[in-house]
Order: sequence, then C-alpha cells, then structure tokens
Amino acid sequence: MQTPLGLIARLPIRTGRLTLQPLGDEHLPALAALLADPVVMRYFPRPMTLPESSIWLQRNLERYRHDGSGLFAVVRQDADGARLIGDCGLVVRSFGGRTRVELGYHFARDVWGQGLATEAARACVALAFEASDVPAVVALIRPENRPSQGVARRAGLQPRGAVLHIGLVHDVWHITREAFAQLALQ
Ligand SMILES: CC(C)(COP(=O)(O)OP(=O)(O)OC[C@H]1O[C@@H](n2cnc3c(N)ncnc32)[C@H](O)[C@@H]1OP(=O)(O)O)[C@@H](O)C(=O)NCCC(=O)NCCS
Repeated sequence: MQTPLGLIARLPIRTGRLTLQPLGDEHLPALAALLADPVVMRYFPRPMTLPESSIWLQRNLERYRHDGSGLFAVVRQDADGARLIGDCGLVVRSFGGRTRVELGYHFARDVWGQGLATEAARACVALAFEASDVPAVVALIRPENRPSQGVARRAGLQPRGAVLHIGLVHDVWHITREAFAQLALQ
C-alpha cells in the first residue's frame, strides 16, 4: 500500500444526499457539539470537551497532510443551508503489527435512522478501492455497537476477529479489494 493515499485530493464527493469534503477549522463548533454528545459517544471512552475536539480536528488535518486521508466532513443541504451532520472517512492506522485503512464515522443524533451514515460509508469504501491501492478496508467496532455494525455490513464489510483498541475489545470488520469488486459486479 502506497502512502500518502492521495484520497483528500479526490474530495469533494457528492452522493445522493450528501457532500463529503475536507474538514476545516470552520467545522469545529458543529463537530464539537457532536463529539460532546454522550449518546453519540456512548461506545467511546467518554464525550469530548471543546479543547479535546479541537485537538481531534487538528490531528485529522495532520492526517490529511501526512497520510493523504483521514476523517472527512459529511455535509447535508437543508432548509437553512449546508450543515455538517457527521464525519466519515478513512484513517491510516497501525494495529496487530500491520498498517491498515480504517473506516470511521460519527453522526449527529438527529439524523440517525435515515441511511445517511451508510450512504457516506459506501462512498468512502468505493473511494478507497477506486482511488488508491489499499488491499482492504477495516472498521473497529465494539461488540455492543449494533448501529455501527449495521453501517459496516451495509457498506460490504464482514466481521473477522477482534483486537484491543483504546483499551477496549473491538471486533474487526473487513472488506478486501476482491470482495468489493464482487459486490460491484452484483
Ligand atoms: C453508527 C451510526 C453512524 C449509525 O447511524 P444510523 O443512522 O443508524 O445508520 P444508517 O445511516 O445506516 O441508518 C440506518 C437506519 O436508517 C434506516 N433507513 C432509512 N432510510 C434508509 C436508507 N435510504 N438506506 C439505509 N437505511 C435507511 C434503516 O432502516 C436503519 O434503521 P434502524 O436503525 O431502525 O434499523 C450512529 O449510530 C452514530 O453516529 N453512532 C455514534 C458514533 C459511533 O458509534 N460510531 C461508530 C464507531 S465504530
């Protein structure tokens, strides 16, 4: 796998209802509100404070520069204009002695239940395989996080093993380039 992945240069991406674009400093207020919500952060160690969200955002901007990828802004056009409703993207991460590309996402609670996370996740999986040479995309998901498992499954990933990540057991969900090609043929 060649890094930097060069995926950030492919943005923006438009899906049926969403635009995926690079995160920027202008997204901090909406992002911080999302990451401070205890329900959104139920499967993470704890909700984030504003300074922690700011560090999280800066770390993502650093990922763009270093890895050519990271978590992206998911923006939806609504009556009041463009609104950041979540983040979704592809993070280069080392675990289990290997470097992998991890699909990740968080969405605001008021937009759950509409298939928007699945729409963004599918776009990211397609981007990974169509615009880079990554052999596989993985997602690390807590065994209790059923909504996230649903998103991963609908994006074509399957469970395969488990790892300890941020001190918590996570199932590893997985889709290979070959499996993605098979899905695309169906
Ligand atoms: C994980 C998360 C993004 C899932 O959000 P979600 O809205 O449930 O996911 P989807 O966008 O796939 O929507 C699926 C739901 O929309 C419904 N839906 C409605 N229209 C749909 C459409 N066009 N396409 C697909 N599903 C649709 C589905 O039936 C499903 O409903 P259900 O929850 O009653 O079964 C959300 O729970 C979240 O942000 N969680 C907190 C952060 C988190 O845990 N992130 C993952 C860490 S691994």
